Amino acid sequence: MSEAELPQNAKSSGVKPSDTLSTPAVPRHVAIIMDGNGRWAAARGLPRVEGHRRGVEALRRTIRAAGEIGIKVITIFSFSSENWSRPAAEVGELMGLLRRFIRNDLAELHKSGVRVRVIGEREGLEADIGRLLIEAEELTKDNTGLTLVVAFNYGARQEIARAARRAAEAVAQGRLKPEDVTVETIGGLLDSADLPDPDLIIRTSGEQRLSNFLLWQSAYSELVFVPTNWPDFDRAVLESAIREYQQRERRFGGLTAKTGS
Ligand code: IPE
Ligand code: IPE
Ligand code: MG
Repeated sequence: MSEAELPQNAKSSGVKPSDTLSTPAVPRHVAIIMDGNGRWAAARGLPRVEGHRRGVEALRRTIRAAGEIGIKVITIFSFSSENWSRPAAEVGELMGLLRRFIRNDLAELHKSGVRVRVIGEREGLEADIGRLLIEAEELTKDNTGLTLVVAFNYGARQEIARAARRAAEAVAQGRLKPEDVTVETIGGLLDSADLPDPDLIIRTSGEQRLSNFLLWQSAYSELVFVPTNWPDFDRAVLESAIREYQQRERRFGGLTAKTGS
């Protein structure tokens, strides 16, 4: 990433709201299911891995745009717990791309004030990948710009099960009463405990499902599905998804001026 391409919200003072979006209604947390890399490649007669490579470029563009628009937290679904079922060669390519992304981009992300967080299962990952994830989090932990949450080896059901297991252990050890296992307790034991729930979840490629992404945290998220395959995603598509979000009326189970009498 060149200097000129750095996210503009690098330092908190540098936040540059988009020219075309009104700042107050910009979602604080946008989560993206980056889908359609394989179809993008197939449509061009290219190997699937080429779609994944181009997907990394789309990711760089998107991180930059998110900062410029004034989004505070962006979560990206980069590898699901179920993606291990793909051919070993493709899994290997995806692991290689993550390694390269962290090695090539971490310094620039840090310089531009991005705080990297990783959610998902760490157990069972190759040792060097585990170390890179820790390095990315450690290096950037005090940054105050955009928070980039990388959902890697992530499955929402697995995350909820891990939280339930921790609660059960605490109960078994007498540190927690069964009646104190509440929504707040479970939420506080999730990988995302310290992060706000996503306001907006975008899925690319036209698929309309969550595929085990943020099932707990998405309880009141607005969902926007765009036909664009991930390698073609850019600021214009992000802004149009945000505009669609801005048309929605979030009610959280209550009444608003429109729905109340
Ligand atoms: C998203 O693109 C990347 C990952 C899931 C890792 P896909 O690889 O799922 O692409 P399609 O859905 O097969 O087109
Ligand atoms: C979801 O996409 C996972 C990621 C984007 C990392 P998939 O392509 O794996 O989802 P399905 O299999 O179409 O539901
Ligand atoms: Mg897919």
